[in-house]
Amino acid sequence: MASLEDLIPTVNKLQDVMYASGIDTVDLPILAVVGSQSSGKSSIIETLVGRDFLPRGTGIVTRRPLILQLINIPEGSDHATDGSNSTFESKKEVNAVLTETVPDANPLVESTEKQIFNEWGEFLHVPNRKFYDFNEIKREIENETARLAGKNKGISKSPINLKIFSPHVLNLTLVDLPGITKVPIGEQPPDIEKQIKNLILDYVATPNCIILAVSPANVDLVNSESLKLAKEVDPHGKRTIGVVTKLDLMDSGTNALEILSGKMYPLKLGFVGIVNRSQQDIQLNKSVKEALDNEEQYFRRHPIYRTISNRCGTRYLAKLLNRILMNHIKDKLPDIKTKLNALVTQTEQELLGYGGGVRGTKENRSGLILELMNKFSTNFISSIEGNSSNINT
Ligand code: GDP
Ligand code: NA
Ligand code: MG
Repeated sequence: MASLEDLIPTVNKLQDVMYASGIDTVDLPILAVVGSQSSGKSSIIETLVGRDFLPRGTGIVTRRPLILQLINIPEGSDHATDGSNSTFESKKEVNAVLTETVPDANPLVESTEKQIFNEWGEFLHVPNRKFYDFNEIKREIENETARLAGKNKGISKSPINLKIFSPHVLNLTLVDLPGITKVPIGEQPPDIEKQIKNLILDYVATPNCIILAVSPANVDLVNSESLKLAKEVDPHGKRTIGVVTKLDLMDSGTNALEILSGKMYPLKLGFVGIVNRSQQDIQLNKSVKEALDNEEQYFRRHPIYRTISNRCGTRYLAKLLNRILMNHIKDKLPDIKTKLNALVTQTEQELLGYGGGVRGTKENRSGLILELMNKFSTNFISSIEGNSSNINT
């Protein structure tokens, strides 16, 4: 299981089964990145998504929350308008589900760059327009930020809603948030710190939110604003992942091994070390793929981190998120099964009410759904169990 992309077939199939039976789709947790200004939050989101589309840089760049909804679309389609594009229209599709339930393994961003016309963005505030050019998406975020939050470092609580449609994303919601700042600058009001904290709390307070608490490695962890804030809403550290960025910028002779090994701060999901693209890399247009490869090499070759390199980097972070989401689905399976069973019983009774004998399509359909569900969960659980053994956190 290499990345979030690997979960796509699994989640899609589960959603197909549930959609066909009229049960609500699984609500996956939302992921929110929290941290001080310029700690690397937007950089992480971009690398996880695998495309360049977010304004990044030194200083205060993210000034409105960005609610990013990733929507998986089938390969070769460019006309879907929402995520509900999957129903059992034909027997062929049903068979496809029955025969292929275990996720394939694809690296995080391997196939992103060759699929340009298969991926696009849509903004809630720009109806009926598809953005195929991801640079234009970035410009639109900048313009829309300035429209409400002004041109002079102001912050607005009002979110920008962006959907990205792609065959390479998992149906998932990510939230990019303004950074925590202490001292007001430009048009910022005197209570800017409190305002930003409240804004962040709006998103991370819900138990269905996984918090990526970002701390730059060149600042002492005890001063980490993100960990302080995460602790307010997740006191036992159950849904917070500690993310340590800028490892490449630490003073020579120092390292973050203790932090990354979880010896400094208690978080059940642990800490992940990251090396994002530097400001210079941004200016030189270094691609996501190149960034990920360089990051991997950084950890493999590092005299200290190479001992834990299989638990470092953005690719590992994706893997960890993947596992968390898998477990989330696994926890929901018994409930889904119960609902499906009830549905089947109800349908059978309705048919009996018609005097037996009637063998309508409805009955066949519910039997098929149940069969699919059983098959799905058997394969799913064995795929999780087969995979969890080689990931240790
Ligand atoms: P945000 O304000 O938290 O969203 O941070 P950004 O993602 O916009 O990054 C802020 C600046 O820090 C940019 O110039 C990035 O290139 C740089 N940066 C972020 N992470 C790293 C990192 O791990 N290493 C280095 N060298 N620079 C980084
Ligand atoms: Na920034
Ligand atoms: Mg940002």
